[in-house]
Amino acid sequence: MSDIPPGRRRQMEIYVPGVGGAKPRVPVDPVKLEQRAAMAMSAAAEGYIIGGAGSELTVRANRAAFDRVQLAPRVLRDVAVRDLSVMLFGRRHQAPLLLAPVGVLEMVHRDADLAVARAARAEGIGMVLSNQASVEMERCASALGDTPRWFQLYWSSDDEFVRSVVGRAERAGCEAIVVTVDTTLLGWRARDLDLASLPFLRGQGLAQYLSDPVFRAKIPASPPDTGLRPKGLGVIGALVSLLRKGRAHGLTIGQMRAAVAHFVATYSRPDLTWADIARLREMTRLPILVKGIRHADDARLAREHGVDGIVVSNHGGRQVDGEAGTLDVLPGIVAAAGEMPVLLDSGVRSGADVAKALALGARAVLIGRPYVYGLAIAGEAGVREVIRNIVAEFDLTLALCGVTKASELNRDALLPPP
Ligand code: GLV
Repeated sequence: MSDIPPGRRRQMEIYVPGVGGAKPRVPVDPVKLEQRAAMAMSAAAEGYIIGGAGSELTVRANRAAFDRVQLAPRVLRDVAVRDLSVMLFGRRHQAPLLLAPVGVLEMVHRDADLAVARAARAEGIGMVLSNQASVEMERCASALGDTPRWFQLYWSSDDEFVRSVVGRAERAGCEAIVVTVDTTLLGWRARDLDLASLPFLRGQGLAQYLSDPVFRAKIPASPPDTGLRPKGLGVIGALVSLLRKGRAHGLTIGQMRAAVAHFVATYSRPDLTWADIARLREMTRLPILVKGIRHADDARLAREHGVDGIVVSNHGGRQVDGEAGTLDVLPGIVAAAGEMPVLLDSGVRSGADVAKALALGARAVLIGRPYVYGLAIAGEAGVREVIRNIVAEFDLTLALCGVTKASELNRDALLPPP
């Protein structure tokens, strides 16, 4: 079936076994996918992965923006042969999507980032390795083979560590650095706060740090006394988690406690400015994308500071409650970005969403929660199913709108706003 285009192929993969009564294990419908994944997750994982900032207005705004945009299909145009691929930074991607960086995947599946890397390779879809990954980038890179990978950078308050991870990313074959600028402080996340749950404090999502020579050399002899103490029986579970993590990284439990404290002290840099982005330019020859742009003036500043690409993202609505959906701000940012490629993140749930984003000027999109839901339900196979479903729907939407090349989607495929 490999010569059948992905839309038709996926339909047959589902309908033919369906004759015998088999149904997809991973729901195709995005709402059911989230519901089913929530059932497979612990309360803490559900809060962290599904939750957003505050009352989750931005999570909903991301979706509402997609709902408002309407496609305007054209017919009788011979769409039998389609090309879904797009060029990004000199590399051809076989579909206009990459897997977004999502931290702490161990919360939803034991194989975490490794399962995602294997799925990305099997489906030929690029992956953005998370700064807060559960598996260090070198292991993911070898699981990825030749599949494109980019590295997401959170700018720690320790520049030496930043330099170190950027160097590791280059050596691990990453083709771009995606510096995330919307999370110089962690947003106000009501679900996590109500569960009093921050996975990093259990040593989760710290693989890039615990495997880094610069970070390890700076782990203090003992954690600084903050005056705050964990309370309750949960302390035992937290200690077991630290012990396990420590064992995996050759660190004692005392060192792990100090490592977590050092991470918390240096995790982010609220004093980050455009001058630092210019400094990043000196640290690497890789293309630099700034992820987290939501204002046209910031797109102009990105251009002035020698950035190579923009990811319009509000972190899946996890940072600021009450801002606009990313699709709403995309056109203004594309106009301000000039020739610079603009990618869209936050709220993408389907192949039709991918088509809308491209029609409004995105060169490609990042998919986040949907693949994590697939991971929660069925590990690597679940991630593969989600990717295949989104690519299939994109392929069919493109064809049914009368377009044969992903790179040729433009506003002609949309109803003009009233
Ligand atoms: C950052 O790592 C986050 O939780 O969004």
